[in-house]
Amino acid sequence: MAKPRYSRLPARKSSSSTMFLTMLIMFTFLILILLALGILSIPSSNSGNSPKPNDLSSIVHNVVDRSDDDEGRGEHWVEVISWEPRAFIYHNFLSKEECEYLIDLAKPHMVKSTVVDSETGKSKDSRVRTSSGTFLARGRDKIIRNIERRIADFTFIPVEHGEGLQILHYEAGQKYEPHYDYFMDEFNTKNGGQRIATVLMYLSDVEEGGETVFPAAKGNISAVPWWNELSECGKGGLSVKPRMGDALLFWSMKPDASLDPSSLHGGCPVIRGNKWSSTKWMRVNEYKV
Ligand SMILES: *[C@@H]1O[C@H](CO)[C@@H](O)[C@H](O)[C@H]1NC(C)=O
Repeated sequence: MAKPRYSRLPARKSSSSTMFLTMLIMFTFLILILLALGILSIPSSNSGNSPKPNDLSSIVHNVVDRSDDDEGRGEHWVEVISWEPRAFIYHNFLSKEECEYLIDLAKPHMVKSTVVDSETGKSKDSRVRTSSGTFLARGRDKIIRNIERRIADFTFIPVEHGEGLQILHYEAGQKYEPHYDYFMDEFNTKNGGQRIATVLMYLSDVEEGGETVFPAAKGNISAVPWWNELSECGKGGLSVKPRMGDALLFWSMKPDASLDPSSLHGGCPVIRGNKWSSTKWMRVNEYKV
């Protein structure tokens, strides 16, 4: 009884799939003919000789307006300052209150800064770094958690990949000689792997000097609008002037995870005023606290 139905159905199915196949073949032929006539062309990465990279050597100033979800932070916008190293300024990243909060929290605990000894992995006293500083544990309180969440959003790196916030204080004459943030030893990369990016937040304005300088940056370093305001040291590379609330993001690694020597950076000597800053180092992997 049901037999004809069963036999009819597959037959219809096969006829419709035959039609589909026929159309597909015809379509393929059409494409091949168009290709042969040169009307269509296959986009190819190695058409011609080698692909010509776009020129990113000039310092780019892109202004991206942000609608204010204001917590009294002023206008926030991001500026691209360099592609080698990849560096960006997020203006008014921290509010004045957040800057003052971090300074007040750190002030009683400031100790003379050390650098990491690449042979032993231990901290050592140093003349290349004459500031004083302290660490604030990750997730320490609500305000810090909020800042760390925003850093994660800005960098696309999870909160858990961040070291604790380091607060630094430079008085007149104090500086940090150019260095890399990535490690050259095994010891320091055991927890979290290599440092991939740094977010440097300025907690105070500095009257003169105290710039963050990238002496190995590619591009026209004198093209920055603030060139005439820079100290002698600041003119030794691509420089960022400290401004309360601004956050400088730069990458120590290229997108292919190789170390980026153009990320060499230093803190120029403060000439007039005081410099307070806060550093967040981000790792490739989760950093356990
Ligand atoms: C660098 O920028 C400055 C200021 O915009 C300009 O006067 C100068 O010609 C530029 N130099 C080069 C090599 O492009």
